[in-house]
Amino acid sequence: MIRIAHISDTHITGESAYKGYAYDLISNEVNRLNFDFVVHTGDVTNNGLREEYERAEYELKKIRKPLVVVPGNHDVRNVGYDLFEKFIGPLNGVYEFKDGVLIWVDSTIPDLSDGRIGKHKFRWLKKKLEEYSDRRIKIVAAHHHLVPLPNTGRERNVLYNAGDVLDLLLRHDVTLYLCGHKHVPNVYRVEDLVVVNAGCASCRKTRRGDVNSYNIVTIHDDGKAEVTIRRLTGEEVRAEHKPVRPKLFVPRGKRLFRIVQLSETKVSDRVYFRRKVLENVVNLINDNLKPDLVIHNGDLVDMGIERNFQKAVEFWEKIEAPKLIVPGHSDMTYLGYELFPEYFGEPETVSMGEFTFIPVSTPQYETEIGVVGRFGQKKLEKEIENAENFKVVFMHHNVVPIPKSRERGFLEDAGDVLKLLTEKGVELVLTGHGGNAFAVRVERTIIINAGSVSWELHRNPFGNSFNVIDIYPCMVIAFEVQATWGSRRLLGVWKLKGPRAGGS
Ligand SMILES: [Fe+2]
Ligand SMILES: [Fe+2]
Repeated sequence: MIRIAHISDTHITGESAYKGYAYDLISNEVNRLNFDFVVHTGDVTNNGLREEYERAEYELKKIRKPLVVVPGNHDVRNVGYDLFEKFIGPLNGVYEFKDGVLIWVDSTIPDLSDGRIGKHKFRWLKKKLEEYSDRRIKIVAAHHHLVPLPNTGRERNVLYNAGDVLDLLLRHDVTLYLCGHKHVPNVYRVEDLVVVNAGCASCRKTRRGDVNSYNIVTIHDDGKAEVTIRRLTGEEVRAEHKPVRPKLFVPRGKRLFRIVQLSETKVSDRVYFRRKVLENVVNLINDNLKPDLVIHNGDLVDMGIERNFQKAVEFWEKIEAPKLIVPGHSDMTYLGYELFPEYFGEPETVSMGEFTFIPVSTPQYETEIGVVGRFGQKKLEKEIENAENFKVVFMHHNVVPIPKSRERGFLEDAGDVLKLLTEKGVELVLTGHGGNAFAVRVERTIIINAGSVSWELHRNPFGNSFNVIDIYPCMVIAFEVQATWGSRRLLGVWKLKGPRAGGS
């Protein structure tokens, strides 16, 4: 068993933003309780100034346990990264402990709040994960968050390449990702990776009237991870995760439902639109796959003009199975705002047997950035609550970062939306932004993003593709199908737990 105290965002400064008494309370408790080591995930200082580093050096010495400190965006302000190395220690490094290793990475960009684990550091991290692959416990720590966080206002400053980093950590069976930055404590399990955000230890800038806090992380010998968010008021929130073993299952019972998931057809007369590929996909769907439902996750047309919509409708009507569609950002350009509803109507919730399909319209006019909005979230929440059976929410913008894509056309309120979807126990979320296929389970919600089916400008090494999702009584299995060759690649297999309403 290993026990870690995870603190973050102390924001040590001479100004009133710093709450020295909160820091003292936490450091005293950390010294008193039984911890193997302490991790500080950055923003040690408020402005990266020499006087702040001098004070930080003194304050950090109050912690009388092995301590790993990660730089945050505030620490590198005013070229503070040089001072960080002088007063605190290396910006990147490895800390070994019994049966485990902690690798910390500098994710900061001088003078920006955003994060990045750029190409050299990314390669370094990959090399270290390979080097320590035999360790039972693998922990990665960086300042910036990996998965959108709730209650942060506008969701931003996630790592630019969060999708790549997430994919890397999942492929290397990392146990734990520790971070801070947004001053919001949170725990998510993403497959078997436990993603832990610390709140702020001693800064005034808490969100939503929250108080200062730190996390207690315990990893048991059987692999179970236990995280306690410990607030200064004494209030505690606990989360537990046991790794899923084995990770492969055999489907039992008859297949209940098959969904074909398409995105980014981008119908147009530009050279990047691969008409033949789309025709091939329509034939594959009609003749071979015979799904119960086709869901199009948006970006049906490249630009919202009449000629494109007319062509898109021709393709759409050739698909014989029942179909549902939500608009993407490129559908909402030029006249698309008027034309999309004219051609495809307003997306509405549909029930089919024991499945409920809830569409969410995320694009805004003439921008890549999506939003559900506070009003939209309330509407979505009601619709999820009214659906008693297997709930499928589908929208254009992604709620988890996508490998190879950059967090550019993100969903403004992805953090709040992800929290809503996972807390309400939505079984399946389908998205289609970023030009690459990716699937992960966050908490108990399976999230599947589709790549581009017929647009040459994608980010998928597998090529143009679409997804097939088969639902069995006890499991969900998702494949990606190469749009030209029809070859398949497994995206994921997930066990469904507990009796489902109306389940057979
Ligand atoms: Fe901070
Ligand atoms: Fe920060």
